[in-house]
Amino acid sequence: MNDLLIYNIGQLLLPLSAGVPLKGNEMSRLPVLEHAAFAVKDGNVSWIGPSNEGIHAAEKVDAGGKVVSPGLIDPHTHLVFAGSREDELALKQAGTAYLDILKSGGGILSTVSSTRKASEEELFKKAEFHLMRMLSHGVTALEAKSGYGLDRETELRQLRIARKLQETHHIRIASTFLGPHAVPADRKGKEEEFLKEMTDLLTEIKEEGLADFADIFCETGVFTAEQCSKFLLAAKSAGLKLKIHADEIHSTGGTELAVSLGAQTADHLVAVSEEGISMLAASETVAVLLPGTTFYLGKERYAPARRLIEEGAAVALATDFNPGSCVTENLQLIMSLAALKLRMSAEEIWNAVTVNAAHAAGFGEEAGTLKVGGRADFTIWNIPNYRYLPYHFGVNHTDSVYIAGEKRWE
Ligand code: NIG
Ligand code: FE
Repeated sequence: MNDLLIYNIGQLLLPLSAGVPLKGNEMSRLPVLEHAAFAVKDGNVSWIGPSNEGIHAAEKVDAGGKVVSPGLIDPHTHLVFAGSREDELALKQAGTAYLDILKSGGGILSTVSSTRKASEEELFKKAEFHLMRMLSHGVTALEAKSGYGLDRETELRQLRIARKLQETHHIRIASTFLGPHAVPADRKGKEEEFLKEMTDLLTEIKEEGLADFADIFCETGVFTAEQCSKFLLAAKSAGLKLKIHADEIHSTGGTELAVSLGAQTADHLVAVSEEGISMLAASETVAVLLPGTTFYLGKERYAPARRLIEEGAAVALATDFNPGSCVTENLQLIMSLAALKLRMSAEEIWNAVTVNAAHAAGFGEEAGTLKVGGRADFTIWNIPNYRYLPYHFGVNHTDSVYIAGEKRWE
């Protein structure tokens, strides 16, 4: 006997999941089953088929003709931090650049000082609040970075919180060590020494199972491609997978570096070079695009999503949720920005927040899809068809969210 049957589904989205991400024009293929149903047993999908099949289950849910998709995946978030930076909005309005705010000790460094002062309990509660808001927007798996400690104690505290959230909630969380997120205020001119300190933490982090990935901010005035290369190579030999904040504001070789090191993802890519685009296309490194950040930084120029897809790269979308450059937990809003600003099609967008996001977060075939035998993580959407979601922007279309067949939000 099945535990649960979801029936009368108007459209059931079944993104294609293989061992590799969808690349280029494969991203426009989105299998949709109309008038569908599926069953769940012991937390996994046990059957998928037409709604009128008459399958038995202990509990039956009438989806009322709505759309059902795999739970969304947010593969780039800075989930754990203390404080907020609404005071910087006025600076931005006055025309102060993001990197200038950072240079004068604000920005990331302002969140670093709040985070260092916060207790583990406070940080946990706040991260949990943001996590529940992500869940309420249809997200059942995500990646969470450290990077607001920039010292051993606080970085490890952030990573422990991500692990505890994973243990206490059912949302899948991939954890990323982003120790070299910025140069701490008291280490200016001593970048090499600071990087060595962060590099020395890699083995401990790996051994304690505190992170799956290592990440670094490759940007003018932050870390050079050469410094990033050294750090990421050490991370790779410590057994961590790699991510990189690359070409967000200036083109500094971060994307090329990501591909040459076999990184799982290169993220941002607003200023990616032609060489970077071709290298991505020829690789399995996923391009994680963050249009919410471009929007929130008030920039006109967005990442070249169409070029990336036309050349054959794999594209995923994420919020970049953080207290400075993109303050939203709402991945649905990012889907609308992807339609309007990146000119991605609805099919590409759904693949970018499901299967390709799963690869970006290192979940592979385990998440981002619905298949018999796979975990039943799914979202019921209060929309008439899948194209509707990016179209109707800025609101929450979630009807209910299930993780391993259990309703976790409605
Ligand atoms: O991905 N660019 C670097 N890191 C974050 C912003 C972090 C912050 O401003 O607090 C990003 O945009
Ligand atoms: Fe980021």
